[in-house]
Amino acid sequence: MGSRKLDLEGENPFSKSESDSALCSPLRSFPIPSSLFPTPYYHPVKIGSLELEGNLFLAPVAGYTDRAFRSLCAEEGACFSFTELVSAEALYRSYSRYGLGEANGSVPNAAVQTAANLVRRGENEKRYAIQLFGADSESVYKAASLLAPLRPDALDINAGCPVPKVVKNGAGSALMKNPSAIGRIVSAAVRAGRESLGSVPVTIKIRSGWDSKSINYAECARIAVEAGAEMVSLHPRTRAQNYGGKSDWSHIADLVSRLSVPVTGSGDLYTPEDALKMFQETNCAAVMFARGAMGNPFIFSQTRFLLETGAWQPAPFSARIAAAMRHLEMLSADIGERTACLEMRKQFCAYTKGITGGAALREKAVHAETVAEYRSIAETFIA
Ligand SMILES: Cc1cc2nc3c(=O)[nH]c(=O)nc-3n(C[C@H](O)[C@H](O)[C@H](O)COP(=O)(O)O)c2cc1C
Repeated sequence: MGSRKLDLEGENPFSKSESDSALCSPLRSFPIPSSLFPTPYYHPVKIGSLELEGNLFLAPVAGYTDRAFRSLCAEEGACFSFTELVSAEALYRSYSRYGLGEANGSVPNAAVQTAANLVRRGENEKRYAIQLFGADSESVYKAASLLAPLRPDALDINAGCPVPKVVKNGAGSALMKNPSAIGRIVSAAVRAGRESLGSVPVTIKIRSGWDSKSINYAECARIAVEAGAEMVSLHPRTRAQNYGGKSDWSHIADLVSRLSVPVTGSGDLYTPEDALKMFQETNCAAVMFARGAMGNPFIFSQTRFLLETGAWQPAPFSARIAAAMRHLEMLSADIGERTACLEMRKQFCAYTKGITGGAALREKAVHAETVAEYRSIAETFIA
């Protein structure tokens, strides 16, 4: 299950994020006539039998979208969120003996418990999906069947992860090279959902293709839908692009025109304006924030505000630091103080990005080992 150890090949996928200053500027408004607001873009979405209040989603982001962070995002209006990718094979091996229902205490060791936390619903998370990755449909079936005690609202299949450790086993974005396997895996998840999970919808997240010579999102999505997928999320980069270059939103628009199920758009959503543009340009049913939400759970309420009024207000520095501290406290309750403090180091960088003096804050935070140390750094800095 150890997706926290995924190696992103030395690339910093966050280096392309929105410039620091944009996060801290005063009230921002989008340059289109006020008569167009509220826009028609914020609305409920139906994924099979699952009804969602709105269409601003939190994307799966390994190492970042832990349940504490998902809770913060839900508070700020994320209508649906995804766990980070979890290995179907490892999940089945770890939990077939003890089950996931005991995730709160009686599982045998801390590592297994930490892993179980990845797939648990956040305290206030109304709607969430557990994302599985695997190359073998039987493993996906067995792992999905174990998830009943967690009552996920959907099962999501990862067909986009570019990390070598995942791809070399034929999973993640390697599935884009093997569309028939996508069909088998989605069918297996649908069967598990029907037999064990009260028929929750199965969704899938794909890329544009393996590389620029093999753009096949349309074929992969069609096969997934024929096998029973009830929503397709498209991150329109190829595996070869990893997280670099620009995502090609024309692929999202094209997929929307081909499918009868909702299409969720992903890629280069760093600001509320980006989300508005994606809705306008692609007509997608929903958008999912990934890097744009890291350290910035406020992007959901800001985007809804923009879609409804034409303007949005950046969160003040103090609110961002307060969110970081709440994140740390919830994470500590889940995985223990020591591990949480280590995990929080990279998250703290995201929360303090663009803040004047943020570098000094980060310099101190990378040495913090307790919640109290983090708190005193934050307080000194704010004072
Ligand atoms: C560090 C990192 C981890 C990610 N982990 C996952 C994951 O577990 N599952 C998944 O489907 N996508 C994952 N993604 C992809 C994102 O969900 C999203 O599709 C991608 O980052 C494009 O959106 P963005 O350009 O707005 O960040 C990850 C992305 C990053 C940068």
